[in-house]
Amino acid sequence: MERSTTLQDKPLDEILHVAEKLPPFPDVVQKVMPLLERMAPVEDIEAVIQYDQVIAAKVLALARSPHYTRAQPAKSLKEAIISLGQRALVEVILAACSARFQDQAIQGYDLREGELWEHAVGTAIMADRIAERLGHTDRLTVYTAGLLHDIGKTVLNHYVDRYFDRVIIKKAIKSQDQSFLDVEREILGIDHQELGGLIARRWNFPPGVVAGITHHHSPQDAEENRLVASIVYAASRMLAAMGIGTGVDGFLNPNQDQVFITLKLDERTIEKLMADVFVALDETKKFLCT
Ligand SMILES: [Fe+2]
Ligand SMILES: [Fe+2]
Repeated sequence: MERSTTLQDKPLDEILHVAEKLPPFPDVVQKVMPLLERMAPVEDIEAVIQYDQVIAAKVLALARSPHYTRAQPAKSLKEAIISLGQRALVEVILAACSARFQDQAIQGYDLREGELWEHAVGTAIMADRIAERLGHTDRLTVYTAGLLHDIGKTVLNHYVDRYFDRVIIKKAIKSQDQSFLDVEREILGIDHQELGGLIARRWNFPPGVVAGITHHHSPQDAEENRLVASIVYAASRMLAAMGIGTGVDGFLNPNQDQVFITLKLDERTIEKLMADVFVALDETKKFLCT
């Protein structure tokens, strides 16, 4: 039976409850990070990874990909860890772990199976490239925020599907009277960036990651870590403009967008970054998607 939506009838409590009940982010990330930080011996890292079959398989697959293979392909997990190096290792673990939450279809946002995850990984790679250009020192924070920026959609999807009138929504977005975030807030009581921030906090990600997610559509509102949020905003919009996870997002006009101007992302730079990330994403998909 159709239920009518009134302001008193927002499903916010239920949404927060579902977010609260999400399984924890795989603890292999939380275990590996401190080991890398204190430059633990490779055997210690191997000991953590080997018990997670999916992650171990992806680490090996990546190390054997042409991008990392030096003379001889890695024969063992230990060799794979060594040949990848710290950053690539953490990134592959994060990307593989996040796939467990983001690889399903997100019909409420017009995203087919795998599309949200592809948008997430592409945004992470793009955010990392932008951070590198700017000489940002904490690229892992930027990468992680990029990877998880739309995680709130995985919970809101069900409610968008149930509560939203598609025709009205599409019209509202087209006329640009209201952004999709405003509609989320009005009908559901929370938008996907705020909910994503709550989920990331619950998963114990650091404040930079939480801020990057919470303000990925409105970096100007970030009191702290505004640069992280700005980079994720730009990266996500660029991926949408590439047709990767466009869903209900709008078009891109960097010359009229203050965030792009601040990040010194002009049309030529954007074109080059898009071409680079297109190739990198294709490579990443080969070994991460099994
Ligand atoms: Fe978003
Ligand atoms: Fe996005």
